Amino acid sequence: MSARWLDAELDGADVTPERRSKPKKKKLLGRRKLDDLTAADPENIADDTIRRLIDSGHITEIVAELKSGKEATAYVARGPRGPVLVKLYRELEARSFKNDAVYREGQVVLDERAARAMTGRSRKGLEMLQGMWVSAEYAHLWTLWRAGLNVPEPLVGPLPFDYDATVPAVLMRLIGTEDSVAPRLSDARLTPAEAQSAWQQSVQGLADLLRLGYAHGDYSTYNLLWWENTVIMIDFPQLTTRQNSNFSELLRRDAQSLATSFRKHGLQTDGETTLREVQRLARGKGPEPRIVLP
Ligand SMILES: Nc1ncnc2c1ncn2[C@@H]1O[C@H](COP(=O)(O)OP(=O)(O)OP(=O)(O)O)[C@@H](O)[C@H]1O
Ligand SMILES: [Mg+2]
Repeated sequence: MSARWLDAELDGADVTPERRSKPKKKKLLGRRKLDDLTAADPENIADDTIRRLIDSGHITEIVAELKSGKEATAYVARGPRGPVLVKLYRELEARSFKNDAVYREGQVVLDERAARAMTGRSRKGLEMLQGMWVSAEYAHLWTLWRAGLNVPEPLVGPLPFDYDATVPAVLMRLIGTEDSVAPRLSDARLTPAEAQSAWQQSVQGLADLLRLGYAHGDYSTYNLLWWENTVIMIDFPQLTTRQNSNFSELLRRDAQSLATSFRKHGLQTDGETTLREVQRLARGKGPEPRIVLP
């Protein structure tokens, strides 16, 4: 696949910070309002998925709508083990899956009928695609959490049987507190020393992913949280392996958008230098794995 083709495909992914800051009006389609979700009368909870999560005891209540993003709406919720971030993927109609093929390239779908439905974008096919993205995010979170990386702890699983029950939502530990949710690095105000530390941790994070054989696919300060002087990586449905022939380009883009998005914090470095540093660090030792009990 040519880099130019990939560029054109990825252009729609809003990887550039400038583009993200000006969301088009139609992007708000599919947004779920807090009002609909926190009706005093529990019978009135409008969203089926949220109701199901409450009925099944995964969460006890929704506290606030945090952010409506490209692909999902993030809610702050309470759960049996503390504050929860519910990432609720949008209704099928409001999702584009525009760049889905770039990230899924190299993945093998064994069921031929499923593969055809997904390519044909029938309703059933879109549902399958949706399910794959959501389950992929859980699976990746578990892999990275177990490997000891700085990512939010997934709160359902580790078996797909368990986390498939919450689709189209992903439940993970809230970074920060209910009253003070961790900001994205793109929104954080940092002193020069903090910016330097955040930069080093972010480069290290990308290297940690690479050591495990992954490119993030959407790496920038927009998908990095800042909490207690620590950088936490988020947003993993499009994590890509070396099986994908776009791998090198996606990794290069990750390094590039990280460098570009850090300019507002006063860091002046280019994508190629960043990429080389990421590759060098990836050859070093990784973090201590976490023990996860089944
Ligand atoms: N575990 C978490 N703790 C606190 N905040 C979180 C957590 N996970 C996600 N968020 C917040 O929710 C927002 C959306 O999450 P995420 O980036 O995974 O979804 P998205 O649909 O890709 O959104 P976007 O288009 O903004 O990137 C993040 O920008 C961040 O502000
Ligand atoms: Mg994101």
